[in-house]
Amino acid sequence: MILIKNCRIIVNEKVFLKNILVKNGKIVKISNKEAFADKIIDAKNNFVLPGLIDCHVHFREPGLTHKEDFLTGSMAAAKGGITTILDMPNTTPPTTTIGALEEKRKIAAKSVVNYGLVFGAANDNLAEIKKAKNIAAVKLYMDYTTGDLKVDDFEYIADVFKASKLTVIHAEGENVKNAVEAFSKSKTKNRIHFAHISSEKELDYAKNSKVRKQVTAEVAPHHLFMNENDLQRLGAFAEMKPRLKTENDQKALWEGIKNGSVDTIGSDHAPHLIEEKEQGNYPFGVPGVETMLPLLLDAFNNNKITLREIMKLCCENPAKIFKIKNKGFLKEGFDADLAIVDLDKRQAVRNDDLLTKCKWSPYEGKILKGWPVTTIVNGNVVYDNGGVVDVKAREVQYAR
Ligand code: NCD
Ligand code: ZN
Ligand code: ZN
Repeated sequence: MILIKNCRIIVNEKVFLKNILVKNGKIVKISNKEAFADKIIDAKNNFVLPGLIDCHVHFREPGLTHKEDFLTGSMAAAKGGITTILDMPNTTPPTTTIGALEEKRKIAAKSVVNYGLVFGAANDNLAEIKKAKNIAAVKLYMDYTTGDLKVDDFEYIADVFKASKLTVIHAEGENVKNAVEAFSKSKTKNRIHFAHISSEKELDYAKNSKVRKQVTAEVAPHHLFMNENDLQRLGAFAEMKPRLKTENDQKALWEGIKNGSVDTIGSDHAPHLIEEKEQGNYPFGVPGVETMLPLLLDAFNNNKITLREIMKLCCENPAKIFKIKNKGFLKEGFDADLAIVDLDKRQAVRNDDLLTKCKWSPYEGKILKGWPVTTIVNGNVVYDNGGVVDVKAREVQYAR
């Protein structure tokens, strides 16, 4: 039994000071009582959020472990208040066969945050898609990006929508519209979720159609906290897919957060080495698991977002959209995945402090107010005040 004392939590839109009792990795009681426990953690009246569920990371294993691996990536995630990640299939080999899925399942066991695996749609793997067990979703790439998984044939794309309960789509610009049209034509009851929506137009295509009830949208922190003006300053270190857009697009994404058309925020943690970024034909993507929550808490301190909105976008909606069991909420019976955050802590993002293998951030030097201080995964303290403990986590299960 572990007692987490003096937790400031939000229940039904109201703030309470409570103690959280944890047994066998689960929340057993949230109350004012100080139950007997073998171990006491003092949250010191800080806010305690459900651990974040980051639905979009690239931990690069297998095959690209010079950039990241499940241990370094997951430690970085824990430092960022994230307790569950969904890993993307654009690894080497890609996660497009049952064999590759089982292999990744073994590799991911080294993770210190809980994990789910996203299966990849290739040009000819419909049979494998239908066989894949306990996957978070199927990922469909409709535009070129890291990896070699672009699918062009719209008939095949419709077959993927029909075969997969949830398809996460990488589509840019007009292709978001094309995806929605193909999905609509397929007449399936399944759902689609757009990764990294980056512009006003993309958000409009995604969320204003006759199938809107079956369509959800993710935004990545870099499209919220940067725009094309940052490209001059950062060059390749701010180049990702989709590319940073105009200030007006950035504004539209924030409006989408406010009016509910944005459903999730996912880091799209896409680490590449500094040496790779310095080459002429640099790869696309920026790291993000360690800075997503600090950026959002800083935005909270600047009155741009509420804690309730952060909870919905980063905890509750991911759990609902991917149907992840027992996560995303601070509730009795749910997994003890928690992020204790200090809303007053001011600290600069420093490359030297980062746990990601790539060791750089586009936000280097930026002073942020609001940082995670302790991260608890399945009742174990995995991150505390700068230090990470290597306690293995587990694969998530889905209610479907
Ligand atoms: C991602 C990567 O490097 O894996 N890159 C990126 O620019 N976002 C792939 C992706 O999410 O498209
Ligand atoms: Zn993508
Ligand atoms: Zn990505």
